Amino acid sequence: MKNRVLEMLQSAEGYISGEAISGKLGISRNAVWKHINKLRSEGYGIESVTNRGYRLNSSPDIISAEKIQENMNTEFIGRKIVYMEETDSTNNAAKAAADMPDGTLFISEIQTSGKGRLGRAWESPKGIGIWMSLLLKPEILPQDVAQITLVVGMAAAKGIGCGAKIKWPNDVVIGTKKVCGILTEMSAEIERVNYVVTGIGINVNTEAFDGELSEKATSLYIETGKKCERCGIIRAFLENFEALYKKFLRGGIAALAEDYRELCITIGKEVSVIYPNRTINGKAVDINNEGELIVETETGTVTVGSGEVSIRGIYGYV
Ligand code: BTN
Repeated sequence: MKNRVLEMLQSAEGYISGEAISGKLGISRNAVWKHINKLRSEGYGIESVTNRGYRLNSSPDIISAEKIQENMNTEFIGRKIVYMEETDSTNNAAKAAADMPDGTLFISEIQTSGKGRLGRAWESPKGIGIWMSLLLKPEILPQDVAQITLVVGMAAAKGIGCGAKIKWPNDVVIGTKKVCGILTEMSAEIERVNYVVTGIGINVNTEAFDGELSEKATSLYIETGKKCERCGIIRAFLENFEALYKKFLRGGIAALAEDYRELCITIGKEVSVIYPNRTINGKAVDINNEGELIVETETGTVTVGSGEVSIRGIYGYV
């Protein structure tokens, strides 16, 4: 019934009286009032004026499969969407449904145990971020799967816009702070990938971060001062990802290297590559055809395939 009240508010041109709603839906004026209050608590801006009735002024930023797919230009990425109001982690949800088609998107309004890289937690509050995972079934070798994360990072930076760049390999940053993180997991045999799940977390309408996070993390709202509509960003990400991913499947990272270099803020900077037992200092000069970072150190050139990279003097996080 609440949804029918909402439909009446949405189709009304201007104000609609409580009496008109109660008459049309066959419920009491008091029941109408209760539904209106419930809708307000869900984020709908509903004005009420004596003798005129109710008017819908604004709607909350709600994610739905239909809204994401509206005029979406993809062939298989995001053509199937599993929407959840709540889940522990969209990566877990995707892994549990790995028999679904290639390109299926899993998305949730809130994650109760969002996972970050290296066993860290990923804060995923309700309604203000994009917490999603793509299920992929690429015919590539397990050792090349890490390269997919670079492709995801590129698509995320492009989809987010606002001058977003990539900190190698795939943190998406605006200015000096992280706006998006990517966690890729896979199921594989020695020479065959069964499936890949790549999870993307984008801080969209977060108003502020607490404590230490405020030094390292940002959101689109913090950067632009405007609330952003999440479905548009998701659609832009999916479209960018499909175009880049198809190129990657045909020609590897080499086919995307120019694009990646343009988006990557790490190249040309002094960096520290932090491994559990040692740290390498030097200047990041390029990425190679495998997507690895080439670092010139005092003792020679080093190829970095993984590890935490901090950019000296600029980024506070490792
Ligand atoms: C990182 O540490 O930078 C990676 C963060 C990845 C977060 C996303 S949110 C959607 C997906 N589900 C998860 O549990 N994690 C990823």
